Amino acid sequence: MELIRTREALRQWRGKAQGSIGFVPTMGALHEGHLSLVRHSLSQNDRTVVSIFVNPRQFGANEDYYRYPRMLDTDRRLLENLGVSVLFAPPEEEMYSPDDEVWMSLTRLSRLWCGSYRLGHFDGVVLVLTKLFHLVAPHRAYFGEKDFQQVRVVEKMVEELFFPIQIIRMPTVREPDGLAISSRNSYLSPRGRAQAVALYKTLQYIQTLVPKFRLTHKILEEARQYLHERFPEVKVEYLAIVDEYSLEPLEHLSQSAKPRALIAAYVEGVRLIDNIPLEVPPEEAYT
Ligand code: PAF
Repeated sequence: MELIRTREALRQWRGKAQGSIGFVPTMGALHEGHLSLVRHSLSQNDRTVVSIFVNPRQFGANEDYYRYPRMLDTDRRLLENLGVSVLFAPPEEEMYSPDDEVWMSLTRLSRLWCGSYRLGHFDGVVLVLTKLFHLVAPHRAYFGEKDFQQVRVVEKMVEELFFPIQIIRMPTVREPDGLAISSRNSYLSPRGRAQAVALYKTLQYIQTLVPKFRLTHKILEEARQYLHERFPEVKVEYLAIVDEYSLEPLEHLSQSAKPRALIAAYVEGVRLIDNIPLEVPPEEAYT
């Protein structure tokens, strides 16, 4: 595996690389969620490029940019063992310059849900991915459904900016108790870790309510109460049932829309997110 640090060296490698290229963009601190994307890319492409870049533009002023785990040597060994062709790990000055002027944003999608609490977050994601997609010029790029809104943002960006890249979504990888694997789980104490399962448990509870109520506000009310009673230390930021394409909230459930339940919550001050697709019974099942 080649470790590449500069745009120029990556361009040179890309100019010579033959066959299909799969790309897994990451911010490092690799876990099983990332590795499942890498394995999938390796199985579908001749070469796989992984990037590790903790992108300052997608963190708000009070967020965890400086604290975000950085472990390049460990990550590098993991990727080498899997058979990745290139690890692109640029320093910040390769990606941004103080006199940069271009800023990108999405009008609607980046202002919903996570975007309304993390102002500018998805704009930063879109900017860095545009740069990375130009440099790597992959045929396929891989994203985990744990960050479901990010997946939709990336799909929209690729469609509207005519990137000839196929976006491959991969299901969320979970711990045995259901907690979605995330680099931020490492911030939790054992007590916080035990509480963190609240997100997945609440989503599962929502699924059990789906056959009982068609109106989503009823389901969400019950789910909030469930969460509050069982996991009082967990502070919900948002809990929603949305259309999985537009990410707009759904007022009632029907088989014609594809509903997804989304949650963002704080555990010990650590912001965690999760989501699941909801299975809706046929109309006549509701009385
Ligand atoms: O999901 C992430 O790790 C980041 O948002 C990404 C896609 C690597 C962009 O910085």
